[in-house]
Amino acid sequence: MFAVYADSFSNDDPLSGLVVGERPDPEVPDGWTTVTVKAASLNHHDVWSLRGVGLREESLPMILGCDAAGYDEDGNEVVVHAVISDPSWSGDETHDPKRSLLSERYQGTFAEKVAVPRRNVVPKPAGLSFEEAACLPTAWLTAYRMLFTQSGLKPGDTVLVQGAGGGVSTALITLARAAGIRVFATSRDEAKRARALEIGASDVFESGARLPARVDAVMETVGAATWSHSIKALKPGGTIVIAGATSGNNPSQAELTRIFFLQLRIQGSTMGTRTELAQLAEFLDVTGTRPLIDQVLPMTDAAKGFEDVASGDVFGKIVLTR
Ligand SMILES: NC(=O)c1ccc[n+]([C@@H]2O[C@H](COP(=O)([O-])OP(=O)(O)OC[C@H]3O[C@@H](n4cnc5c(N)ncnc54)[C@H](OP(=O)(O)O)[C@@H]3O)[C@@H](O)[C@H]2O)c1
Repeated sequence: MFAVYADSFSNDDPLSGLVVGERPDPEVPDGWTTVTVKAASLNHHDVWSLRGVGLREESLPMILGCDAAGYDEDGNEVVVHAVISDPSWSGDETHDPKRSLLSERYQGTFAEKVAVPRRNVVPKPAGLSFEEAACLPTAWLTAYRMLFTQSGLKPGDTVLVQGAGGGVSTALITLARAAGIRVFATSRDEAKRARALEIGASDVFESGARLPARVDAVMETVGAATWSHSIKALKPGGTIVIAGATSGNNPSQAELTRIFFLQLRIQGSTMGTRTELAQLAEFLDVTGTRPLIDQVLPMTDAAKGFEDVASGDVFGKIVLTR
């Protein structure tokens, strides 16, 4: 079948290992099912995979992609949940030490078909297109859990979203606004700051700029480049929810004294549960909120989408269609 896959790793030139070609049809173990992919979306995760992060050499070649929407074996419109937990695991699957994301241990979604455990298929709301639904499983689910499960934010609170242009960040801005939370957003880029206002931020700032007021929580996916600013932006007792570190893992200023003196809470967050994915779909259905799509490309042009994600030249999600 047609597939977009990683054949090798390179930290300096991640796209050199990307192949648009053919792979065997998926193997379907007992208890698993096949989804025919209509749309899939790119995440920074797919670029990390080409750099060799979270993927082992012996797993190559590996079809990339965590997210998909398409048809199940009975022709129902579905969204794929990307977190694959061990069959023996019960409870929150993001806490399963043996969990993986599609394209880490099991073949991913940038293909004609993808095999997943039966429980990893969620009904697609009829009001969402396949392209919109394909944005949910990673970036939008991560944003939903950061905001509504991990942060303690309530309607009327204020949140700071760092790095406004990213897939997770645009989801954070849109979801927070729809839930009645005031949004401050930062971006390095003036045009992205203007777009952040359009999608619901009430104020935008250059990365690292002084804010007019301290915030109740910060949503952090940029990492080292914004960490110190995130800590300084919080009210006493506030919370940073961190789900990524695109710009680096080791901030030069960890701000430890400020963290204990102001009794700040640092909360890690990863993906979300199947239940949260279903709740996110309901939230979009009820509020009429829709994922922001930067570009829709045929899957045959995947390399262009990878280039844009790798260079940070995006505002919203890049969707690949079949
Ligand atoms: N834990 C999880 O489950 C989970 C799930 C999804 C994503 N993630 C992680 O979260 C991060 C974001 O993912 P994504 O898919 O949203 O990525 P993305 O679409 O590539 O967004 C990254 C954003 O970070 C900002 N940025 C990058 N480098 C920066 C720097 N040096 N200084 C300031 N800002 C910088 C940029 O914002 P501006 O250009 O607007 O400044 C960019 O738009 C990735 O590291 C990803 O691996 C984790």
